[in-house]
Order: sequence, then structure tokens, then C-alpha cells
Amino acid sequence: MNRLSRSVQAPRVLNIEDLRRRAKRRLPRVVFDYIDGGAEDESTLRANCRAFEAMTLRPRCAVSTPVCDLRATVLGASLSVPLILAPVGSCRLMFPRGEEAAARAAGEAGIICTLSTLSGCRIEDVAAASGGPVWYQLYLIGGRECALSGIDRARTSGFSALVVTIDTPVAGFRERDLRNGAKELLSGKLGQTLPFVNQLLVRPRWLAALLADGGLMKFENVVIPGKGPMLYADVTAALEQSVVTWEDLKWIRQAWNRPIVIKGIHTAEDARRAVDVGADALVVSNHGGRQLDGVAPTLRILPEVVTAVGDRVEVLLDGGIRRGSDIAKALCLGARAVMAGRAYAYGLGAAGGAGVARAIEILRSDLVRTLKLLGCASVVELDATYVDVPRDWLSK
Ligand code: GLV
Repeated sequence: MNRLSRSVQAPRVLNIEDLRRRAKRRLPRVVFDYIDGGAEDESTLRANCRAFEAMTLRPRCAVSTPVCDLRATVLGASLSVPLILAPVGSCRLMFPRGEEAAARAAGEAGIICTLSTLSGCRIEDVAAASGGPVWYQLYLIGGRECALSGIDRARTSGFSALVVTIDTPVAGFRERDLRNGAKELLSGKLGQTLPFVNQLLVRPRWLAALLADGGLMKFENVVIPGKGPMLYADVTAALEQSVVTWEDLKWIRQAWNRPIVIKGIHTAEDARRAVDVGADALVVSNHGGRQLDGVAPTLRILPEVVTAVGDRVEVLLDGGIRRGSDIAKALCLGARAVMAGRAYAYGLGAAGGAGVARAIEILRSDLVRTLKLLGCASVVELDATYVDVPRDWLSK
């Protein structure tokens, strides 16, 4: 076991918050805050986590469950844990070949990894690293031609589902990124860079690793016709060009004949619309509180969406997953599985693939313990009888 792997083992790292602290120590502020931060006052970011705290568990005691079955099936793929790595942009800034490291850890753990359009590793390399099912997340950055070529590469490389994110008509106002000079650091102009550059210099190990990995990543999967991979842009600028509309979903549906997952569902109305345009699964998601601040936490919206779509499509949830008990709570309210972004990005920032593997292992072992304490032998048996939901959640 190397130094980085050792650094994330127990008792130093027992939970996701421990990985977060370690990521904060290894990464420059501009990179750590990109993972950790949200939009505006970050109230939705906090609310996503608090919703899990507000929902309480109802265990069945004096029940022995020596073996707990965590397996779940999502869009026909069998997962060892009802957990999927959410798309996270710019992973290659967090650790050398970050997206490949995350996909490898997911594949080894028997779960799905979702690759963001805004990634630094090539679609083909990520598929090869995973060795298991992988999903490709689509933004329309670079325009339709670029998107079609990304879709084509994802199909050829064996990606099994396309995840279309629909909550980015504009980038959320991420004040941490602005204060840290994310844009200025990329300007290439000394005068603009200088006030912000110190945060990189005080992380020499991270900087050396970045340089050894080829320096600043490019968006390898946004290939501009006649120009090649798009140069790295601050994510705010990239998201400005990323909007997807219901109209786009028509040609995307035509271009991709495998399952489509629509991510960014906040209401029953949009859930029904997503089913109408041909989605096979939905993700109840507010982009981890990074887009419209002030929207309701995802756990609270979940029952409304599950009721709206019935069993016509599979429903997933992301936002605020930090403990295995959070996964159990989401499943109790009807999610088939959850997606987690920050939980593994902290691990990646702390220790690369070893940190991602540790994040998955923490959530897995938490979930086993939670099931045993609940007196429930299998994740598929989790239902509303195992939880109490705050009264005001039931208004819709
Ligand atoms: C990218 O999707 C981001 O939220 O930064």
C-alpha cells in the first residue's frame, strides 16, 4: 500500500468528512472550493444534507440479519451497492488522470461511474479503465456537432447510458470560484493571474503532480471540428454554453438508442415531461446546490417525483449523500439508487483512486451497518415503513 492509500485508511479516515478535510489539505483553494462550493448562499447545498438529518429511521429491533444484500439493478445493470458515481467536472485537476482513477475504483467496486462532458480524460480511456458499466453525461458545449461526436465516441466505447443534465441554462453564481480567481488564473495574463497564484504555489505536491500529468487539462471530449479538443475554460464559462432544452432531447433521443437518464428533475411536472420525451430513468437533482440556490432539497422532492412517474421509469437521487444511512433513506422514499459526486471527489482530491475506493467503501460499510441496525436484510426491502418524514414534506 503506498503513502496515499495509507493516508485514507482507518482510523485516520472514518467518514466522508475526513476525506473532505484531507482534500482541503492537498488541493489548492480554487480546486477544493470548486468541489466543495455551491451557488450563492449555498442554502440548497446545506439543505440537501439537512433533509437527510430531518428524516428519522424506524428500526425493527431484535432481528438478526447476518447477511445483508446490497445489490440493486439500475437500467438492467447489476450494482454491488445502490450507488453510482455522479458526473463531476474537471476531475483531472483534482488528481492526475482523475476520471480514469474514479472509473477504475468504481469498476473494481462493482458500481457505475458517470463521466462528465467537462472532463480531462478521453471517453475511450475512461471506458477502458472502468472495466464495468459506464455512463456518459452530456452537455451541449461546443454545439450539436461536438455533442454528436461525443455521443458517437461514447457508443463506440461501450457506454451504456447517456445522462442528459437539464438544469444549466446558465452557470449558477458560484461565489467561491469568483473570489478564488478561477477565471483570472486561466487568463494567461500575468497581471490578472498574480493576485491569485499563491494558492497554487502553497500546494507544491499537487502542482508537481499536475505538471507531470501534462499541465492544465483540456476538455478532451469536446472536440471542435477542425480545431481539436477544447482548451480548458473556467467552468462558469463552459456551462454558459451547455444549455439543453426539451427540443434538443428529441434529436438526442434519435442519436442515442441506448437508455437515456435525465438529470436535474425538481418537480412532478418536469418528471412527466421527461418520461414523455423518452427518458428511461430520472435523477432528482439540483446539481448538488450548484445551480439555482433556494430550490428544495432533493430528498424532499423525491416522493413527489416517484408518485408522478410510478413505475414507468427508474428514479435516482443525488445531493447530500455523505453516509450510507443517507442511501437507505433515499431508497425508503422510492429511489432505486443514489448518485454521489462530492463524496468521491473529496476522496479523489485527497488520494486519487485510493481515495475514491475509500469513499465507496465507507458508504458501502455504512449501508450494511444501517441495514443491520434497521433489521432489514436487503436494500430492495427498504420502504416508507422504515422512516418518519417531517409532516410538512407531505404537502404535495
Ligand atoms: C459542472 O457540471 C459543475 O457543476 O461544475
